[in-house]
Amino acid sequence: MGDSLNLLPASFADFRRAAEKRLPRFLFDYIDGGAGAEVTLRRNTADWEAVQLTQKVLRDASRMDCSVDLFGEQLALPLVLAPIGMGGMSARRGEVQAKRAADKAGIPFCLSTVGICTLEEVGAVSDRPAWFQLYMLKDRGIVQEILGRAWNSGVRTLVFTIDLAVLGTRYRDIRNGMAGGLGPWGRLRSGPLDWLLHPRWAWDVGLKGGPHGFGNIAMYVKQSKNPRDYLHWTGTQFDASVTWKDIEWLRQVWKGNLVLKGVLDTDDARQAVAVGADGMIVSNHGGRQLDGVASTATMLPRIADAVGSDTTLLVDGGIRSGQDLVRALALGAKAALVGRPWVMALAAGGEAALSRYLGLVKQDMRTALGLSGAINARDVGRGVLL
Ligand code: FNR
Repeated sequence: MGDSLNLLPASFADFRRAAEKRLPRFLFDYIDGGAGAEVTLRRNTADWEAVQLTQKVLRDASRMDCSVDLFGEQLALPLVLAPIGMGGMSARRGEVQAKRAADKAGIPFCLSTVGICTLEEVGAVSDRPAWFQLYMLKDRGIVQEILGRAWNSGVRTLVFTIDLAVLGTRYRDIRNGMAGGLGPWGRLRSGPLDWLLHPRWAWDVGLKGGPHGFGNIAMYVKQSKNPRDYLHWTGTQFDASVTWKDIEWLRQVWKGNLVLKGVLDTDDARQAVAVGADGMIVSNHGGRQLDGVASTATMLPRIADAVGSDTTLLVDGGIRSGQDLVRALALGAKAALVGRPWVMALAAGGEAALSRYLGLVKQDMRTALGLSGAINARDVGRGVLL
């Protein structure tokens, strides 16, 4: 779990460094990178850091409590592991390991439509239901079938992603040949040579961690021999013509909690309330879609002012620490999601490393609650900010 000098990881940056050593280049870049020049990606983290906390003392910090209630569930920490496509490639059967770590930390894990492990595999980990994320597919029959499987696997909270009608241009993925187009030397460098240079991953995940298909949609992809077959299928099935009418349809079909992910605009937020969503995630997809849009730290307070009293607001993008969780709560979120942090921690050392990361976040959050005067996660408001 530590680096070559056996130092212990203490922050997101440490897990990221360890993941960079462990993962093949194409996979690290796929996880770490964003769209375009990565302006929004950088803003996401920088803008949380710029939110200044207050220091208020002598308020009986022994009563600290990080827990919150969300959609009828009690969370030990106001944190959810975000849906990550191919998240399960960072460690062997990665989503199962992540679900175990989330269970131990008392927080929800959200499985992606294009995760590696199936709904059933993740559902079998424990009695605590996972959340599930879905994209709109052109074939609504498949959508209904997948929703049925999700329900039968115990899922009661559906995260429906609405900011991927068009796929962001990710320069790092293009360079690494994720969309094809590499010559023979490029294919060698990005394929067998990359594996040879990362033998622990190649053995643990590449050779022993299969199957590597997108578990939840593998049965619908006729040619499903390699990742490119899946990318081709998703390219033809992801529905760019989706509108709010389709969300109204979805609202009729899905009886559980419906959370719309990818709201970054106050008008869209009002519309999300109007179609009957139970909650929404203020998100720019971790800076992977439209480069140049505002950070989520910038948009969250505006959206909270517009709809905060009518819905349950969540936020993601650039959240890295327990202080960031307190900042997110202060600006109007009920909880936050982390994407890259859980995948990087998992890559660094599997379930144990992810548990360690979540423990560190909790420790940081307790410090922030204890010294900002909030004490209790449920009581965090704008008063903890300068
Ligand atoms: C994502 N994200 C994402 N979102 C989603 O709804 N479905 C998905 O399949 C994926 N896949 C995915 C892959 C990778 C590698 C990343 C980094 C992100 C977006 C994700 O759920 C979340 O919004 C961001 O990751 C949050 O930003 P941070 O925490 O990574 O900065």
